[in-house]
Amino acid sequence: MALAREPGQQSQEPRDAADQNFDYMFKLLIIGNSSVGKTSFLFRYADDSFTSAFVSTVGIDFKVKTIYRKDKKVKLQIWDTAGQERYRTITTAYYRGAMGFLLMYDITSQDSFGAVQDWATQIKTYSWDNAQVVLVGNKLDLDDDRQVPTEDAQRLATELGFLFFEASAKDNIHVKQVFDGLVDVICERMNDGVNGDAGPSPGTTSAAGLNPDVGAQKGCAC
Ligand code: GTP
Ligand code: MG
Repeated sequence: MALAREPGQQSQEPRDAADQNFDYMFKLLIIGNSSVGKTSFLFRYADDSFTSAFVSTVGIDFKVKTIYRKDKKVKLQIWDTAGQERYRTITTAYYRGAMGFLLMYDITSQDSFGAVQDWATQIKTYSWDNAQVVLVGNKLDLDDDRQVPTEDAQRLATELGFLFFEASAKDNIHVKQVFDGLVDVICERMNDGVNGDAGPSPGTTSAAGLNPDVGAQKGCAC
């Protein structure tokens, strides 16, 4: 994978990325410790594929997926970040302008859950104040090896004001629901503030928001 994408650099789905025919465009980021399954989750969602091989992400990359929510065509630009500490400077540069975050841990790893608070602090530090977050406990298919009780995660999510799902990229459990839930809450919050601070400055680039700083392209009323 590329170390970092430059604005305008060709995506893996150039036709879709260049498609300007959409109602809204949201930039989302997937963050969390290395090996929790961020890349796998994105591949399951965007390509409906899964591999058990672990190829740790270098830097950052993205995929584009277009969905329909309440009759609106919503284009999602989903950035997959490297969990390894050494890429933190690169990845946090992409937090700005993100409308939503998938903050992921692995239900079989207490360490990855222990890091959630730190990741939440990173979001607070580097992103727009009203960015919406969904906490995702991945690898639900490995319930027998579970280290993180559902109630602990639900409690933390409630404290932090995040949505919460347990999911599995491998078995395709709740993957679509995670993204739909995040998109819906972004839309709700934007509608709440429609006459006020409704989001980060809309991007003006015609490059379909490939600029790391670009958030919503066209407000929201979905
Ligand atoms: P970094 O790129 O290093 O930050 O890691 P990552 O979070 O992107 O992890 P990745 O998606 O590469 O997955 C790590 C390992 O976990 C791989 O071997 C995947 O096959 C495996 N994995 C991912 N999701 C699941 C899942 O839902 N269930 C199971 N059993 N394994 C999974
Ligand atoms: Mg990865």
